[in-house]
Amino acid sequence: MCGIVGYIGTQAATEILLAGLEKLEYRGYDSAGIATVLEGDIHCVRAKGKLYNLREKLQREVNPATIGIGHTRWATHGKPEEYNAHPHTDTAKRIAVVQNGIIENYRELREELKAKGHEFRSDTDTEVIPHLIAELMAQQAQQAAATAQPFPFLEAVRQAVTKTGTDTELIPQLIAELIGQQVHNSASTPQQFPFLEAVRQAVTKAGTDTELIPQLMAEVMAQQIQNSAVTSQHSPFLEVVRQAVNKLEGAFAIAVICADYPDELIVARQQAPLTIGFGQGEFFCASDTPALVPHTRAVLTLENGELARMTPIGVEVYNFAGDRLKKSPRTLSWNPVQVEKQGFKHFMLKEIYEQPGVVRACLEAYLNADWNADSDRSPIKLNLPASLYENLEHVQILACGTSWHAGLVGKYLLEQLAGIPTIVQYASEFRYAPAPLTANTLTIGVTQSGETADTLAALAMESQRRASQPPQFQTRLLGITNRPESTLGTMVPQIIETHAGIEIGVAATKTFVAQLMAFYCLALDLAYRRQTVSAIRLEQILIGLRQLPAQIELILESQERYIEHLTHDFAETKDFIFLGRGINFPIALEGALKLKEISYIHAEGYPAGEMKHGPIALLDAKVPVVAIAMPGTVYEKVLSNAQEAKARDSRLIGVTPMNDPEAAETFDDLLPVPAVEELLSPILTVIPLQLLAYHIAALRGLDVDQPRNLAKSVTVE
Ligand code: AGP
Repeated sequence: MCGIVGYIGTQAATEILLAGLEKLEYRGYDSAGIATVLEGDIHCVRAKGKLYNLREKLQREVNPATIGIGHTRWATHGKPEEYNAHPHTDTAKRIAVVQNGIIENYRELREELKAKGHEFRSDTDTEVIPHLIAELMAQQAQQAAATAQPFPFLEAVRQAVTKTGTDTELIPQLIAELIGQQVHNSASTPQQFPFLEAVRQAVTKAGTDTELIPQLMAEVMAQQIQNSAVTSQHSPFLEVVRQAVNKLEGAFAIAVICADYPDELIVARQQAPLTIGFGQGEFFCASDTPALVPHTRAVLTLENGELARMTPIGVEVYNFAGDRLKKSPRTLSWNPVQVEKQGFKHFMLKEIYEQPGVVRACLEAYLNADWNADSDRSPIKLNLPASLYENLEHVQILACGTSWHAGLVGKYLLEQLAGIPTIVQYASEFRYAPAPLTANTLTIGVTQSGETADTLAALAMESQRRASQPPQFQTRLLGITNRPESTLGTMVPQIIETHAGIEIGVAATKTFVAQLMAFYCLALDLAYRRQTVSAIRLEQILIGLRQLPAQIELILESQERYIEHLTHDFAETKDFIFLGRGINFPIALEGALKLKEISYIHAEGYPAGEMKHGPIALLDAKVPVVAIAMPGTVYEKVLSNAQEAKARDSRLIGVTPMNDPEAAETFDDLLPVPAVEELLSPILTVIPLQLLAYHIAALRGLDVDQPRNLAKSVTVE
């Protein structure tokens, strides 16, 4: 929810900030804004609606400012109007702030600050932050004034005349001496002028080549920073932001600039993502790395309770107590090409087409290549500690949305292959009504982004609830995520990384398939260890898994044009029903969710056998039914459930095995997939449903990658 960016360096900030926001627009897109420090003032431009509205406004101006912050919003507090768009400023418009998250105690702070004369101009929770910083800055200035000696001459006269036994004619001499001392004391630290000092040291170094001077200066400055600062006190701006974040409650990431400190950009993180990018003489920050990769791959992700001071010469990291921390950037493996559409009309379509590669990457990462039925080790290499599996009796899976659907497939696999009773809960429900404690339980958090607030909170709550219990009830946490560097990654000790590469489209596609792959591997690993499946059967399943990438390719090649054509028949359709049974019931749910979120058509997913218990009343010629009917335990059952729908005049669309005469007879339209065994079929049956949703939305001219009211990662409750 919401994307924030920041820049400090030597280039004009505006275009860099806009380009960064474009990469983060998937996080929120109902308004946007940027603020820079221009000629001693905060210059803030904001616009309602998508980013191009802001870009259009900014085109009318030339802004050479080299420091700035930006924001793209997903409204939580206050309507998506320009006056609620970030950045927000204090009453005097000297401080500008962007925030991602929610400030839970904003009401109390707002009242306090209003009582002190601060003027609020928005309905947002964020606006308390610039006012709070301004208030603390005023207090800081007052304290400084009280302790400083602002009139050194007067002070010297005061000391001279109050010295006992002083002869009148000695007074001028005494004053001169005292002034001399004052000057001496104040000027004795060259560190007061660190830039001058760095230049001095660089140019006086014997035999220095002119072009080495900037490098030498940078080294001296880096040294200066390391030597000088161990607390946040040395930067008054950093210090007040530090005091401010200590007064905030909630989950937030912020970036702050101040007209009076034109060389400092302060960022802070508490339960919302924030990463700093290190360039050559320039530094960037963003809620997510796609905004950074066009500039640098050296990044540092702040941890909760950390803040950083970014200047044109470096970055200092502190904890909220004000202690300086030693941190080094890491190198990202992504390249900028991965975050481009590469000729596809939308990211979603590109990501659908990336799925064969994703499945291959997962197979490569998790399967022991040389395993066969005679091997004496697991066919799977997840590198999870044995303690996670020891005496395992239960699994509970916590997730939201599409990840929850992946969890349902996971439950089927864990129960049917490894024989472990498994429950799957919406994280948002589990938080307030957790299942009773069970012993020897593995809790799995599934979240592609690793930032979904409900999933993280549910996992945290579960750990806390089990902490005081006897050993067999202690938490065993496992995360399944596409973003091991996310908050989830720092929260859980074990991760299965899903290797899907960055997903930009708000509708999850390739990350879903990668989550399914993670569950196949986990279930197979457990089945091997618990000996619930024979080695021969394991070998069969592995052979099947290895064929999946080519089979997905075949669906994409043979189906896309046909599905695109078919969607013309649904231009006016208002409702869809998706049916599935067994392991394909979650795929029916996922097909319905995909269609809802990007085409805004009402769609419901049902277990096919449930139709006659109520929903069948919805059916008529205007309500198409999509049924997933793959050979296996429930094939005939699904076909007869589909017939019941046909008898109510519904148009029947079947996701069926290729070249199946029975299916051809039953359905009006076929979306055929290779005839794989039921257990593996979800990885294939979901593909035509993704294409169907995509093409219906694209035909309707909708914003497929950024559907209304949604955001890629839901970092609020
Ligand atoms: C999927 O298409 C949706 N955009 C949404 O349901 C999503 O799966 C859900 O918000 C969970 O996200 P996560 O996997 O990042 O936790």
